[in-house]
Amino acid sequence: MNPSSTPDDQRGSYFEQLYRQDSDPWRVRQRWYEERKRALLLASLPQRRYCHAYEPGCGNGELTLELARRCERVLAADLSAEAMGLAQQRLLDAGCGANVSLAQHRLPQDWPRILPGAEKFDLIVLSEIAYYLSVQELARVVEHSIASLAPGGSIVLCHWRAPFAQRIVSTVRVHAAFQDAPGLHRVLRHEESDFLLGIWSNDARSVAQREGFA
Ligand SMILES: C[S@@+](CC[C@H](N)C(=O)[O-])C[C@H]1O[C@@H](n2cnc3c(N)ncnc32)[C@H](O)[C@@H]1O
Repeated sequence: MNPSSTPDDQRGSYFEQLYRQDSDPWRVRQRWYEERKRALLLASLPQRRYCHAYEPGCGNGELTLELARRCERVLAADLSAEAMGLAQQRLLDAGCGANVSLAQHRLPQDWPRILPGAEKFDLIVLSEIAYYLSVQELARVVEHSIASLAPGGSIVLCHWRAPFAQRIVSTVRVHAAFQDAPGLHRVLRHEESDFLLGIWSNDARSVAQREGFA
């Protein structure tokens, strides 16, 4: 390893090498566990349709593909160029990429700037990414999420619970950072022994209240 490389470089090259060796390192295309988790996440979304989603840490694009079917537009991003290539191929193969923009983003620094008056995201999905951030980076991601969330929009977090070598912040702490954030209301908490799924919004109403029958 280059002795002058920063922790950021090291984290970046870790994911780059992982995807170079294996196009599906977490078996998201093969495991029932992953397929079921995606289905739960998608079924939990408070809205049937979204206008503009942001999915940083999109990996090889398996969830991106499903989001593309629920959203008018998706901005999917990852710090790994290899992952971006895999995601692009996945979308092309499924004939589903027309409404997806792909970008190489490293959180938190590359979080998209929303200019005054510009459209915000009504869906932000952080799936199996936020535990790779430091406490300080996580705090910036919480701030960015709140600032770039459209009124009534949803922030979705889904994370594996057990500790592993590359994890910096525990899953409980990651989700607590959003739970404690001012102006966010939790609209869903799904807890299993393997993972936590949570959804927060700047609109406290339930799905039935939004539809006007509760
Ligand atoms: C475990 S995979 C999750 C992929 C996908 N979101 C899913 O749920 O299946 C984590 C992804 O996050 C990306 N990642 C990790 N840290 C990141 C950061 N600071 N900024 C952007 N992407 C990051 C990795 O390159 C990897 O593709």
